[in-house]
Amino acid sequence: MRELIPSHRPALVLAPMQDVTQLPFIKVLAKRSLPDWFVTEYFRVHPDSKLNKHLLRAITENETNRPVFAQMIGDDLPSLIRAAGELADYPIEGIDLNLGCPAPIVCRKNAGGGLLRDPERLKHLLTALRAAIPGRFTVKTRLGFAESGEFSALLEIFQGIGLDGLTIHARTVKQGYQGAVATDRVREAVGVMDCPVVANGNIVDVTTGRAYHALTGAAGLMVGRGAIRNPWVFAQLAAAWEGGPQNIPTHRNLLVYIEDLYAELAASAERFCPNGHVQRMKRTVGYISHGLGVDFEYEIRRCRTPDEFWAICRAHLDHDGPLPVRPPEDSGLFSGFTALLGG
Ligand SMILES: Cc1cc2nc3c(=O)[nH]c(=O)nc-3n(C[C@H](O)[C@H](O)[C@H](O)COP(=O)(O)O)c2cc1C
Repeated sequence: MRELIPSHRPALVLAPMQDVTQLPFIKVLAKRSLPDWFVTEYFRVHPDSKLNKHLLRAITENETNRPVFAQMIGDDLPSLIRAAGELADYPIEGIDLNLGCPAPIVCRKNAGGGLLRDPERLKHLLTALRAAIPGRFTVKTRLGFAESGEFSALLEIFQGIGLDGLTIHARTVKQGYQGAVATDRVREAVGVMDCPVVANGNIVDVTTGRAYHALTGAAGLMVGRGAIRNPWVFAQLAAAWEGGPQNIPTHRNLLVYIEDLYAELAASAERFCPNGHVQRMKRTVGYISHGLGVDFEYEIRRCRTPDEFWAICRAHLDHDGPLPVRPPEDSGLFSGFTALLGG
């Protein structure tokens, strides 16, 4: 794992994101900037599960030259071992286990973040998976289910497993995606884990990324929503350590990014329906349009047809004005990142 991490800066990692971290987004991102590795959105694993063909494309058609980890979610040990074996037939760098998904339907089944409620069972599951996975095995966790105080006990479990990497989304499951991240907990993990620790949550630009790294000493930084909003972020972060020029994208650059995403998602759609595709785009464009003017956000939310969608995008984005570096911190989409800056 350590050989994936550059010697002069933390590793930069694209977060797994359901409905986002799939082949079309990865292709579009790759034209703008690349992480050192990325993690697929999760493969659902249960006794009847088969590997989702659509998700597999991020692995089988990965032309980025960057390694990809396949993430699994589930709570049934024999099924997880089977799925890990099936995934190993594909060109993956390793297997990642999701211990963070807060969706109630997932947690009720004691999968994702729900597994954090039962440390004994978690330990059993991780130990067995570690023994069954000959390649790299990493975990993406939260700080606990209800309280960040649960983290020390979880950390003790993680320490004994022989993981190849530990990514920490430094919130509890109950906190969802809102508010500040607990950098002290990540720092605690960096101090005791033998494997590389990747810090995650609220990195939206170079300043927040550098601050998270300075506060934790993490071996890697994982970016999720910030990379949807700003697909140049990995190059910007790398340049911050490497001393290269900072690329400041313009609104028109963003328009071309949206055009690329529209085309790639359309090309990968099983059945393309123009108005349905606009709805599909709106789910992702919400992260991109946020903070670019209330009119833009409002109009995008209401539009229905491709003609309307493009008229709105062009009216608001077809100019050379520089994009704001950070999103506003006043919504459910991005919140709490100024705490990383001491704010
Ligand atoms: C739309 C969306 C989908 C997500 N899907 C997954 C997933 O499949 N697996 C996972 O481990 N985390 C998932 N996450 C959580 C992210 O990987 C990440 O931990 C979280 O968004 C915090 O990082 P960020 O502030 O950089 O976005 C998802 C987050 C979002 C916003």
